[in-house]
Amino acid sequence: MSVGIDEISFYTSNYFLDLKNLAMVQEIDPDKYYQGIGQEKMGMPAPDEDVVTMAANAALPLVERVGTDAISTVMFATETGIDQSKSAGVYVHRLLGLTSRCRVVELKQACYSATAAIQMACALVARQPEKKVLVIASDVARYDLGTSGEATQGCGAVAMLIAASPRLVELDPEVGNHTEDVMDFWRPNYRSTALVDGKYSTKIYLQSLKHAWEHFCEVSSLAFNDFQHFCYHLPFTRMAQKAHKHLARINRSALSPELLDLQVEDTLLYNRIIGNSYTASMYIGLASLLENCKQNLAGKRVGFFSYGSGSVAEFFSGKIVAGYEKYLHGDRHQTMLEARSEVSYEEYLELYNDTDPVDGGVHTKTEGTTGRFRLVGISHHKREYIAC
Ligand code: CAA
Repeated sequence: MSVGIDEISFYTSNYFLDLKNLAMVQEIDPDKYYQGIGQEKMGMPAPDEDVVTMAANAALPLVERVGTDAISTVMFATETGIDQSKSAGVYVHRLLGLTSRCRVVELKQACYSATAAIQMACALVARQPEKKVLVIASDVARYDLGTSGEATQGCGAVAMLIAASPRLVELDPEVGNHTEDVMDFWRPNYRSTALVDGKYSTKIYLQSLKHAWEHFCEVSSLAFNDFQHFCYHLPFTRMAQKAHKHLARINRSALSPELLDLQVEDTLLYNRIIGNSYTASMYIGLASLLENCKQNLAGKRVGFFSYGSGSVAEFFSGKIVAGYEKYLHGDRHQTMLEARSEVSYEEYLELYNDTDPVDGGVHTKTEGTTGRFRLVGISHHKREYIAC
């Protein structure tokens, strides 16, 4: 029985900052961002948006199609948790009207945890093939102002149905892993922004790719040349281009730099204008490939490299299913991205400084989202969400 990704939908905030405005304030060349890190815009959540509202907006079209009874489990991957105890997925469960017999859990391991969720979801589906698992990854990437990470912020959520006989991607069971206790990027409980050793993190990313790939080669009969496309974790799009050339070098690939770029370029289009969305970013990259590649991808094999700082990495693979193009949400995604509003640098700072209160009083959130779900306020330490 084949198991894999049956449907994919994503959501991002309607606000974004063009990185040329950040460069202007910093008095540097905007091409450091446009070309050097390969990022153009970064999404900023509205005051009444968070990982819950973005997740519910991403998942709504999937739940509307399959119905609530089909979903046995919601797995919510995030590193922007809103509560140390309660899963953000439980709020989403109510907003989407899922049944009380659907289990919900939150998973964390930096940007990697959506991949763990998918692998666990595949096992659940293998045991109960008539049901589907809803995997959601939702994050707000936030660094301190004035740090090297600032230009790599962003926000987004992706929702995927994992099912038997999937309509988009059949996932292969063999995976390669690499886990190592390192401090390249982390966010202690008392901080709202991540700490990062930027250059070191890119080095660990590449080393983890090598190790995860070596493990993958031990357990799988597939080789580098069996893959037509590669989806990498996307903290910024240049990282994927560098990673792919690194993997090609390890495999002594004869492909030209131009051909190697072609193997990743369609995965980069959305992230370049959304920014980092941590757990969601590689899967928004997959949506970008499926929705933007001019060639028919049916039967093509895709390699995935998922990386979560700290660090856990996984290389896995999948085959695109014939007829996949009929089940995509490309038009809706394009419309959403084109309808976004640009903010000035001053408005960006206002959004950046709009953080959650800590005193338990009543805080009403100003409206800003154009999505279906909003966080209306926080009262006595309880978050209140509504469907508009
Ligand atoms: N025109 C064109 N290119 C330019 C340029 C210009 N005017 N000015 C600079 N550049 C190039 C540089 O040459 C450099 O290219 P190379 O990497 O090929 O040498 C690139 O732009 C970036 O410049 P710097 O190295 O000077 O950039 P920086 O040190 O200020 O920041 C960074 C880079 C460290 C990655 C920073 O963005 C950062 O800290 N980001 C957050 C951490 C991160 O994303 N790490 C990724 C791995 S960890 C992970 O993946 C988990 C996660 O999601 C966070």
